[in-house]
Amino acid sequence: MESWVGWLLLLCFHMFFFHFSFSHSLCHPHDNIALLQFKNSDTRSFGLDTSPTYDDVTSFFTYAECSDMDPKTATWENGTDCCSWVGVTCHPISGRVIGLDVSCSGLYGEIPSQISQLSKLESLDLSHNLRLRWKERSWKKFIQNATFLKELILDDVDMTQSSMRPLNQSTSLVSLSLSRTRVWGNLKSDILCFPKLEQFHLSDNSYSPNGQHLPSLSCSAASLTILDLSYNYFEGSIPISFSNFTHLTVLDLSHNVYLNGSIPSSLLTFPSLTFLDLGFNQFSGQIPNVFLQSNNFKTLYLSHNNVEGELPSTLSNLQHLIHLDLSLNKLSGQIPLSILNFQYLVSLDLSHNRLEGPLPNKIKSLSNLTRLYFNDNLLNETIPVWCLSLPSLLELDLSDNQFTGHISAIVSQSFEFLYLCNNKLQGNIPTSIFTLVNLRQLSLSSNNFSGFHNVNYNFPKLERLYLSSLGLTEFPKIVGKVPMLRDLDLSNNKLNGTVPKWLHEMDSLSFLNLSQNLLTTPIKQFLRNYKLQFLDLSFNLLTGDISSSICNVSSLNVLLLSHNKLVGVIPPCLANLSSLSILDLQRNELNGTLPSSFSMNSLLSVINLNDNNLEGILPKSLSNCTKLEILNLANNQIEDKFPKWLQTLPRLTVLVLRANKLYGPIPSLKMKHGFSSLLIFDISSNYFNGSIPKTYIQNFQAMKNVIRYKVGELYIQPSSNASVYEFATVTEFATITTKAITMTFKKIPKNFMTIDLSRNKFEGEIPYVIGELHALKGLNFSHNRLSGYIPQSIGNLTNLESLDLSSNMVMGRIPTELTNLNFLEVLNLSYNHLVGKIPEGKQFNTFENNSYIGNLGLCAFPLSKKCNNTKQQSPSSLNFWREEGFEFGWEAVVIGYGCGIIFGIGLGIFVLFIGKPEWLVKMVGGGLRKKMRRR
Ligand SMILES: *[C@@H]1O[C@H](CO)[C@@H](O)[C@H](O)[C@H]1NC(C)=O
Ligand SMILES: *[C@@H]1O[C@H](CO)[C@@H](O)[C@H](O)[C@H]1NC(C)=O
Ligand SMILES: *[C@@H]1O[C@H](CO)[C@@H](O)[C@H](O)[C@H]1NC(C)=O
Ligand SMILES: *[C@@H]1O[C@H](CO)[C@@H](O)[C@H](O)[C@H]1NC(C)=O
Ligand SMILES: *[C@@H]1O[C@H](CO)[C@@H](O)[C@H](O)[C@H]1NC(C)=O
Ligand SMILES: *[C@@H]1O[C@H](CO)[C@@H](O)[C@H](O)[C@H]1NC(C)=O
Repeated sequence: MESWVGWLLLLCFHMFFFHFSFSHSLCHPHDNIALLQFKNSDTRSFGLDTSPTYDDVTSFFTYAECSDMDPKTATWENGTDCCSWVGVTCHPISGRVIGLDVSCSGLYGEIPSQISQLSKLESLDLSHNLRLRWKERSWKKFIQNATFLKELILDDVDMTQSSMRPLNQSTSLVSLSLSRTRVWGNLKSDILCFPKLEQFHLSDNSYSPNGQHLPSLSCSAASLTILDLSYNYFEGSIPISFSNFTHLTVLDLSHNVYLNGSIPSSLLTFPSLTFLDLGFNQFSGQIPNVFLQSNNFKTLYLSHNNVEGELPSTLSNLQHLIHLDLSLNKLSGQIPLSILNFQYLVSLDLSHNRLEGPLPNKIKSLSNLTRLYFNDNLLNETIPVWCLSLPSLLELDLSDNQFTGHISAIVSQSFEFLYLCNNKLQGNIPTSIFTLVNLRQLSLSSNNFSGFHNVNYNFPKLERLYLSSLGLTEFPKIVGKVPMLRDLDLSNNKLNGTVPKWLHEMDSLSFLNLSQNLLTTPIKQFLRNYKLQFLDLSFNLLTGDISSSICNVSSLNVLLLSHNKLVGVIPPCLANLSSLSILDLQRNELNGTLPSSFSMNSLLSVINLNDNNLEGILPKSLSNCTKLEILNLANNQIEDKFPKWLQTLPRLTVLVLRANKLYGPIPSLKMKHGFSSLLIFDISSNYFNGSIPKTYIQNFQAMKNVIRYKVGELYIQPSSNASVYEFATVTEFATITTKAITMTFKKIPKNFMTIDLSRNKFEGEIPYVIGELHALKGLNFSHNRLSGYIPQSIGNLTNLESLDLSSNMVMGRIPTELTNLNFLEVLNLSYNHLVGKIPEGKQFNTFENNSYIGNLGLCAFPLSKKCNNTKQQSPSSLNFWREEGFEFGWEAVVIGYGCGIIFGIGLGIFVLFIGKPEWLVKMVGGGLRKKMRRR
């Protein structure tokens, strides 16, 4: 009976509520006026922005979040009831405005004061109004009256001129969202004191990385359920106060980059936590083994940290898990069976760790798993059948492991993405793989498969196909259309002859890599693929010329035709192909002159034309290529003066003009920062004369600073088109030479700083300023006509690994300062006019006779000639050598040479034959190879 009455009463209440909330008759006049004034306020400082700019990333994101860009205030009209206006919510009884949502309305300027008249407001949403400014005074005024405010959303509003300070007056706030507001404020202290705050979003405010720690938020400890502080560059460890946030359901501290310390155990034991993201930081130590039996984790992301050790056994307690991402850490040990039995799991990413051993053979259920990433680990033995046959699996990446054996014939038909590359898989590939109708990406590269022949490929949705390094002798037989194929990599196979028709008729391709094959196809055939951005045909047997129709491929960004037998001239139009950033034509038989009209807005960052038969002069228009970083013209017949005008190129890092017919003195530099980025300067084997260009040495700023590069910064990387380039660098290169091993670096190490002026006609003294180039690794002035003394300052080049001053007319003593060169492995002072006692100790105890021959006045070890008044030789102190350990250096180079090696330094997939500097060839060949010591 009672419950029946109660139900009736409830019904009455509902009807009452409905009546008022839909009758639109109750808008309080005070609020009505305030809203109209808000809308009509002074347009000079506030109003509607009808022309949103899309020119920065922020605006792109913002507008992407707004499904509807219509200004909500457009429906607000005098004379109508404000409770019926879009974005306005009224209290059903009082008619007071309690909710205001003017998000995505293109508002700009400062918030008009009318908003603070709405004193009953409980929820205010001003988000995604890019040019709206929320200043300190707007804030203060508003917050004084907004005593009922529970929810405040200001995402994407400009708060650069606001602090959080007055906020502590508002104690009713339950939800606060300040993402992408650039609010500054001192978050270190406990200014943010909201005792009832449940949801706090402060992501993406890009705090500057100078010591801003996570806010302690202690006031809100008892109430917080959602906390998002991601993308802020906070640093330091997670404050102890966070262990009091026991009601959290969502915690996101990801992408702060600098957060470190260990993962607090307490975070992993919050009973309600469903979502935890600590990814893209520097957390270290082990994952605490504390996960409780009863927990609610659905999502756990710890990706991209320095977490190590084995996967904790209590991880198996996370039975509700849907997403698990522990990728890009240093986790080791085996993958336990337990985590492969999470029945709700949808995505699992353990890639880029050090997990080892075989995968479990049998699993209970992963029936909803759609993404499985185990790539880049040390997993071995065979790929278990379940892996390829999970019913819902769309994406599987097992690449870069050590899997062996055959792969099972049972393949899930749902695959869209299947990567098995870089393993040791063998045997026939099940034909079922070649008929996966949903497949978008397939990589089988670098395995030991057999039996690719007589397979028909039928992939109507294929976008990327990677079949590199598989020993293919025939092109894949594509049946049917592949209208979406964008990337095709068939490099490093044994494909010969010409390319099949389907390939050169494919007009969707943007990336094509056929390098390292035996192709003889004329270049013209590839140029129907007019959408190509990346074309690599290097290391083939291509003949004929480079058709100028190549310039019709107008989006071409990277063109790699090196190591072929191409003849004819370089099409002049390549110099103004507007999208081209990497041009590598080295090691062909091209002749004629260099293109002469490089255009003003050229994107070219790499030009490798070395080892051809190019003649004529150096085109001055090269100085239009302001993005140029690497220029290699070595081993041609270019006849000109030194291209002093290249000094205007601010990014020029590598300049190699070796073995041409360049002549004349090198005029001194006037420009203050000319050549200041150079790391490699090689003008050897030309006809330059005059004195050594002292002003250049003074300007070589980049060679002065010894920088300890972090991993990832170690190499010279052209800044152009990163995505294409990144892929390119993945391709391994091993040049085929008969007996020799070719040392081909994927990239040029940045600390490979060298100056080579050898084999010219330079005269005069070695400038003293040479001693300022502290980072220099190799210095070669040999085979010139230099006179004077060896400057003592060379003893300051403490990173020097190779010094060659041979075949000059240098006189005097060998400065004892040279014994400071603790990394010196190669020294050649032969054929000069040096006299006196050879310094002793450290590296000097390792050099042999050949370093000094042809100097009649030298004496003492290692020469048999004794000096007058010689003292006893002291025992060597070789231990001192190489305390720093071995990074990249001449050591590898020299060893390589001993084996009779052709030396090249590769830059990405195109090998930049800087070549082994000639002096080293000679020295090593001549038996000057110093005994190598390894620690
Ligand atoms: C609304 O209209 C009334 C009567 O037409 C007028 O008196 C009032 O000023 C208007 N209010 C605003 C804010 O424009
Ligand atoms: C606060 O609200 C009252 C009444 O709604 C209003 O009179 C007063 O001007 C408001 N204060 C500010 C600072 O806007
Ligand atoms: C955690 O909460 C307890 C009890 O409320 C309090 O005594 C303690 O100071 C808090 N710890 C931190 C670090 O805020
Ligand atoms: C798999 O997903 C479906 C729907 O997406 C759901 O109904 C089902 O319960 C899930 N199964 C498991 C074992 O999680
Ligand atoms: C697989 O890896 C484990 C752990 O690294 C190793 O002990 C084992 O010998 C490997 N098995 C094979 C067949 O190589
Ligand atoms: C290409 O290779 C195949 C098999 O290796 C061989 O039979 C054929 O003669 C070759 N064709 C050319 C044009 O070299």
